[in-house]
Amino acid sequence: MCGIVGYIGERPAAPVLLDGLSKLEYRGYDSAGMAVYDGEKINFAKATGRLKVLSELTHDGETMPGSAGIGHTRWATHGAPTDSNAHPHFNKERTIAVVHNGIIENYVKLKKKLTDKGYEFCSETDTEVVAHLLDYYYTGEPLETVAKIMHRVEGSYALGIIFMDHPDVIYSVRKDSPLIVGRGKDGNLIASDVPAVLKYTREVCFIENEEIAKLSRDGIEFFNVDGDLIEKDFKTIEWDINAAEKGGYEHFMLKEMYEQPKTVRDTMNPRIKDGQIIIDELGMTEEEIRAIRKIHIIACGSAYHTGVTSKYIFEGLARIPVEVDVASEFRYRNPILEEGALVIIISQSGETADSLAALREAKAQGVTTLGIVNVVGSSIAREADKIMYTWAGPEIAVATTKAYSAQLIAQYLLAMKFAQVKGRLSEDGLSEMLRDLKRLPDQIELLLNNKGRIQKFANRYIAAKDVFFIGRGIDYAISLEGSLKLKEISYIHSEAYAAGELKHGTISLIEDGTLVAAVATQDELFKKTVSNIVEVRTRGAFVMAVTNEGNTEIEKNADYVIYIPQTNKYFTNSLAIIPLQLFSYYVSVGKGCDVDKPRNLAKSVTVE
Ligand code: F6R
Repeated sequence: MCGIVGYIGERPAAPVLLDGLSKLEYRGYDSAGMAVYDGEKINFAKATGRLKVLSELTHDGETMPGSAGIGHTRWATHGAPTDSNAHPHFNKERTIAVVHNGIIENYVKLKKKLTDKGYEFCSETDTEVVAHLLDYYYTGEPLETVAKIMHRVEGSYALGIIFMDHPDVIYSVRKDSPLIVGRGKDGNLIASDVPAVLKYTREVCFIENEEIAKLSRDGIEFFNVDGDLIEKDFKTIEWDINAAEKGGYEHFMLKEMYEQPKTVRDTMNPRIKDGQIIIDELGMTEEEIRAIRKIHIIACGSAYHTGVTSKYIFEGLARIPVEVDVASEFRYRNPILEEGALVIIISQSGETADSLAALREAKAQGVTTLGIVNVVGSSIAREADKIMYTWAGPEIAVATTKAYSAQLIAQYLLAMKFAQVKGRLSEDGLSEMLRDLKRLPDQIELLLNNKGRIQKFANRYIAAKDVFFIGRGIDYAISLEGSLKLKEISYIHSEAYAAGELKHGTISLIEDGTLVAAVATQDELFKKTVSNIVEVRTRGAFVMAVTNEGNTEIEKNADYVIYIPQTNKYFTNSLAIIPLQLFSYYVSVGKGCDVDKPRNLAKSVTVE
């Protein structure tokens, strides 16, 4: 997620901006930039890559004199991570500078309107429309102009703005993207998050949606969207910097789990319009969709598990045959890709070596490839024929949670779209599924709020040696991910088994007290899974069951039950995985493991 910082005061601004941006690095970024007013003009510097490059370019800010400026770390969404796409963005005369965090949803329309009026764009970003829009509406009165563009811009934004003809002021405004104002002894600041200002002040004000802040060297004023002066309270921050970066959560993993409702909304909402699924970015005609004969889903780790889930959905709903492969196996098995095949590569980082190699193999065989990727401009995003982004934002914890949830949503949407085009999903069926899909964020939140109960249960298992996860159908896919989460962050051996397969060998490992997590969310398989629960329980297993609300009969056969809210049978993974993530997290915390950086693991696996 992008980070913004602004400073106006007695100090040289550039070093303050660089320092503030360094405290926002945890948000993830791929380029950085800043603009500083030097008394005559607005100077700027931009650099792709780490903040260190921007620091070196500006000699730690020394080459950019001036005591009013704005800075930015960009996490690419619209346009690749390049110098020209890095912020700040400007109007043509470079008299207005803007940094932005968020997404301008109507930027295509605004860009067209501005282009028709003769404005020229030098980046691919949505942000640049803001700079030109400010120019278009500029009356010489910044406050009025900022308020005016707020009526024109749709989406989310936190903005830092400098007008060259009002050089003693920084303007800032937000809607649905975070923004705080810091009141310091020798200057005032804006930032996306508290850590960026803590070195200079602990007096912080949280700006609400559609409020404008006007910062000068010796004062801060707040206005509403009508330009009326409003009163706001400042708070004293008591947390230390580490806690602040994690937004008060103990670990990034917990923070990211809590971001899942937002991630699901962000991945879903822009693709549902007027009761229809619109995935414009695919650029696939209905004819092309109808021509798909087979889908190959290829990925690694958790991303692979989302593919295992969606196999059931593509096949069950759209009746398209699906093969799912672990990327490191796919490339070496001399795969047969027939005409009419669509290869879907799923990857959070977009850089996983095996997934990238599988993509290249598929392209070499001449079939259409589609990347479902989180990191904009990553290798897989660039090389795939078609791209569908998951809008999870940067994921810091090594163990994926929110990107996993976003990958599921992207695949639900694809499967539903394909089913509809292939005449397998009626309008009524679609509306019913969309209704359930839209309920998922609130349902996920509900499950997250149940964390206290799961924490208590998890604490009983910190000394466990082996844990088994079982399920059938989609519940098997959920088990795979539940098991991986546990072993990777708690170092407890665990295995996932298709519930019916256990008795073909593995059941010999069940002893008195062995924990078996049984997932039973699929109505048509419920009784079968219960039989498998009975098999392990009679051999001494302690059974934790995850099932749908209403399936209370399971309490006769399971020792501990977690209920998930009712949803469409194809969406249960999005809910059932939440208690399993929480369970793994609390076992790991209880054992004192390094939750965010488990031993031997890397966030992005760029080697075979
Ligand atoms: C597990 C996890 C990994 C990744 C896998 C693929 O929590 O995060 O299993 O899912 O390494 O990574 P991406 O999605 O970046 O290709």
